[in-house]
Amino acid sequence: MEGCAGIAGAEAEVEETEFLGRAAMVKIRPPKGYRLPELDAHIRSTRTRSEARIMHEARLAGVRTPCIYDLDLKGGAIVMERMPGTTVKAHLDSHPEDAGKVCREIGRTVARLHAAGITHGDLTTSNMILLPDGGICLLDMSMGKTRSELEDIGVDLRLLERAFSSAHVGLEDAFSELMDEYYTNTSNPDAVRKRVEDIRNRGRYT
Ligand SMILES: Nc1ncnc2c1ncn2[C@@H]1O[C@H](COP(=O)(O)OP(=O)(O)OP(=O)(O)O)[C@@H](O)[C@H]1O
Ligand SMILES: [Mg+2]
Repeated sequence: MEGCAGIAGAEAEVEETEFLGRAAMVKIRPPKGYRLPELDAHIRSTRTRSEARIMHEARLAGVRTPCIYDLDLKGGAIVMERMPGTTVKAHLDSHPEDAGKVCREIGRTVARLHAAGITHGDLTTSNMILLPDGGICLLDMSMGKTRSELEDIGVDLRLLERAFSSAHVGLEDAFSELMDEYYTNTSNPDAVRKRVEDIRNRGRYT
């Protein structure tokens, strides 16, 4: 598995660990010295709780996310199942020939998430694991939302589109397969399509 030990993200650190003998990952939001201590404690505990809650809700909707093993809100830590496989980013970088198949699976996964009213908030291919059985597991859900509206769904898809075009130059056809699969599995494809277009145009003219 590529780069999982001690990855330092924007605000969290993710490390391999064990939980009751199982392969686990611990994701910790360390204190930020530049924030007032009370505010910092509040932000870390709120984001940690929110991430665990959204992961759990997604799982209830049939979307694969790591199982939560333990939570330490004060310490800003989540201990979760360590997923086998590599990130979709790493896989597509080394196996671009798989892009069509992987992208169709991403389309189905995101459609299922959205059908449950959940948006991810940071849909990038580094926040997805390609599982050994070909399924997609979603990670890093602290920016997500439950009870999402059409606007949230549109923003999620627009972010995915942008993430894809910057991280995966040359895989434009695979991305359009992803969106086709998404729309095929969505109950209101025309409304979503129109909203994504509106958001794209807004970005262009502001
Ligand atoms: N449960 C897991 N199983 C396997 N690998 C994981 C797991 N959680 C995280 N990773 C690996 O660690 C990387 C970073 O994790 P994650 O995206 O959750 O944190 P981050 O981007 O650093 O955090 P944030 O965006 O919240 O600041 C992932 O891209 C993935 O490679
Ligand atoms: Mg991430």
